[in-house]
Amino acid sequence: MRGSLCRTKSISMDDGHFYIVMEWLGEGNSEAAMGPLPVDNDTARHTAQQALKGLRTLHTHNVTHCDVSLRNLMPQRSRAVLVDFDTALVPGLDRHTNVWGTLNYTAPEVFESCDYGPASDLWAMGVCIFELVTGRMPFFCLDRRPQSVRNALKAMRRGVRFTASDGVPDAAQDLIRGLLTYDKHRRIQSGGGGL
Ligand SMILES: Nc1ncnc2c1ncn2[C@@H]1O[C@H](COP(=O)(O)OP(=O)(O)O)[C@@H](O)[C@H]1O
Ligand SMILES: [Mg+2]
Repeated sequence: MRGSLCRTKSISMDDGHFYIVMEWLGEGNSEAAMGPLPVDNDTARHTAQQALKGLRTLHTHNVTHCDVSLRNLMPQRSRAVLVDFDTALVPGLDRHTNVWGTLNYTAPEVFESCDYGPASDLWAMGVCIFELVTGRMPFFCLDRRPQSVRNALKAMRRGVRFTASDGVPDAAQDLIRGLLTYDKHRRIQSGGGGL
């Protein structure tokens, strides 16, 4: 099976430009192409397994994606592929001093101290999986104003909630709770084993 990260075909430069040619993954990211959310459990499981596998590969190479979201996850027949590495943190690069990406996917430690790392990618993946299986966002942060961020952090500290009508299997609930754990030191470190 091909990998869960978008492949680079070639890299070149001319006078003023730098070109990176990536593999073409068809039209539509997971937000646009999967149809109305929630998706069925098999699709959610397949997408989560693939996306977590892609993250594991990145993290093994000490790369943090920093912008994991359904928009940056391309669904494929046999795989789901992570794209959009322009804000990725790679070894040797200075740490970010701003919050990147979509606020609703942002981990608490990133709001608190711009602390991007594998754990913040896994938080964002927890948000993606929650979205896939419930059709909702687990937490909202409307904008970057301190009061909005404080409210979002308070909700994150209380933890994620499922309703009976969500019909989410226990194993998926456990995985999502593990990924959406406020304290990054207690958060699941890779995930997907139980899926
Ligand atoms: N390799 C690819 N093949 C097909 N579509 C892609 C590919 N990479 C990105 N896209 C599409 O283009 C959109 C924007 O690309 P992305 O790299 O995420 O840039 P941005 O930084 O603007 O979010 C993605 O959400 C996805 O729908
Ligand atoms: Mg993107």
